[in-house]
Amino acid sequence: KEIKKPEELKLLKKAINISAIGQNEMMKAMTPNMSETEAQGVHEFVYKKYGAEYEGYPSIVGAGNNGCILHYVENNKPKVGNGNLILMDLGAEYHGYTADVTRTIPTNGKFTKEQKLIYDLVYKAQEAGIAQAKIGNKFNATTNAARKVINKGLAKLGIIDSENAYHNYFPHGATHHIGLDVHDLTNYGNFKENMVITVEPGIYIPEGSNCDKKWWGIAVRIEDDILITKKGPVILSALAPRKSNEIEKMMKLPSVLNDFNLPKLD
Ligand code: GLY
Ligand code: MN
Ligand code: MN
Repeated sequence: KEIKKPEELKLLKKAINISAIGQNEMMKAMTPNMSETEAQGVHEFVYKKYGAEYEGYPSIVGAGNNGCILHYVENNKPKVGNGNLILMDLGAEYHGYTADVTRTIPTNGKFTKEQKLIYDLVYKAQEAGIAQAKIGNKFNATTNAARKVINKGLAKLGIIDSENAYHNYFPHGATHHIGLDVHDLTNYGNFKENMVITVEPGIYIPEGSNCDKKWWGIAVRIEDDILITKKGPVILSALAPRKSNEIEKMMKLPSVLNDFNLPKLD
């Protein structure tokens, strides 16, 4: 059901916290030499540590241009590379309830100028979307608010001709319900107290796009899980930082996950 009972919220919050901690541990462990598969493994290792039984949906871990592929689940690039972004959309399933959290981080710990411009624009769009996650608003209020910010920003950066220009850089909605399913059932009615939704704007600029090639290969999605309350939106996935400078700060912290000293194999 769309409106979650207290015992359901408890399980959902646990799944979301586990997923956010997975993102944080990955931010600390990230190195340019790591593979996408290994990065996926770090998240899923954390899930298992907390007793999450499954992943809620096939994990999406895409570095560089792979981030532009919306349901990229191969996760098999041997090195995430130096100077790329990596988009990581994963969710733990805990006792049947599924989180859905995306973070996009620079593989070497520091955003380039262009990456930061796009990242901060998606962040701004997400903030605008989250602000609409209020009782009584229409289901598409979050997507509309995020889309408006993205269109304006893309025009300002010269990536599209005007904020009304047709484009395909944000080709999906920004919201769905979560619960027993990652895309939980909904009748697309107005938001009500104790619904839990995602707000997940993104900008994807694949190689070969019709814009300056300095933007090519940049793909950013930021996805958080939001509880709708009488007091306004509550970001349940707030354990994982979202601001670009806070991500860079988290990435400077050491990680034991780089220190396994496993034997080498051919
Ligand atoms: N991970 C699927 C979604 O974000 O909707
Ligand atoms: Mn989602
Ligand atoms: Mn997702």
